Amino acid sequence: MGRLRDKVALITGGASGLGKATGQLMAKEGATVILSDLQEVEGTAVSKQIINNGGKCSFMKQDTTSEEGWREICDYILERHGHLDILLNGAGVGSSAIEIEDMDFSIWRNCLSVNLDGVFLGCKYGIKAMRKGRGGSIINISSILGFAGLATATNYCASKGGVRLLTKAAALECARKTPLVRVNSIHPGFIDTPMVAGAIQRRGPEFRNYIEENVPLGKLGEPSDIAEGVVYLASDGAKFVTGTELTIDGGFLAR
Ligand SMILES: NC(=O)c1ccc[n+]([C@@H]2O[C@H](COP(=O)([O-])OP(=O)(O)OC[C@H]3O[C@@H](n4cnc5c(N)ncnc54)[C@H](O)[C@@H]3O)[C@@H](O)[C@H]2O)c1
Repeated sequence: MGRLRDKVALITGGASGLGKATGQLMAKEGATVILSDLQEVEGTAVSKQIINNGGKCSFMKQDTTSEEGWREICDYILERHGHLDILLNGAGVGSSAIEIEDMDFSIWRNCLSVNLDGVFLGCKYGIKAMRKGRGGSIINISSILGFAGLATATNYCASKGGVRLLTKAAALECARKTPLVRVNSIHPGFIDTPMVAGAIQRRGPEFRNYIEENVPLGKLGEPSDIAEGVVYLASDGAKFVTGTELTIDGGFLAR
């Protein structure tokens, strides 16, 4: 405990799934956590729960595809807390289980807008804000589907592959500047969150069987498995780690 003491962390997608679990763990590790999300009711409830458990937390509504929204939230955090040390770009949408020939351009664009443009904006404003303070650590959530393709998920795979290399390029830009901002990506496998529950519902029970058969550890991961990786990359224990890709996938990509 205490690995993130005195650090201020912004978590997008903080109302649900991986963002929620990361907010809970970061607060336990001593960070002051700001959760943001489109889902105001759920986000406020998570924030209250963290406070009730003794953590420091607040919620702000944010659409990560809005550049103005990024400016406002980063300015607010600097004004209120003086510095931003950690940013988890966790907001994202799943794939739509549609083949490329049948995919409306609007569906392609929506996925790329949230999963890639939102992370670009997060890096842009996160780096600016961190450099006004003490530097920091940005963690972008990509996916195993930033490495491997999945039929009927062209939009999702393209967005997550983009996040993987956006992360490396941003890490190199920041590497020789002071204060230092480190930028890394995490590549979750199939984790038990509302997003995956939705995918199982859309694709049918065979999809759960596919996961269990193809994940070497034989099951879905838990959101806390990803939160542990995020906390490591956010902490000073990872001070020599930048531009890396951390896969947390039950062995999926090792096959
Ligand atoms: N669950 C998995 O197995 C898995 C695997 C690989 C990658 N990921 C990635 O992890 C991230 C979190 O996914 P999750 O499984 O926790 O899903 P989730 O649906 O539980 O949470 C995603 C959150 O993002 C929010 N969000 C969506 N669009 C937004 C926007 N424009 N602005 C602000 N918030 C927005 C949603 O409201 C939701 O609360 C996503 O980027 C996802 O692609 C998840």
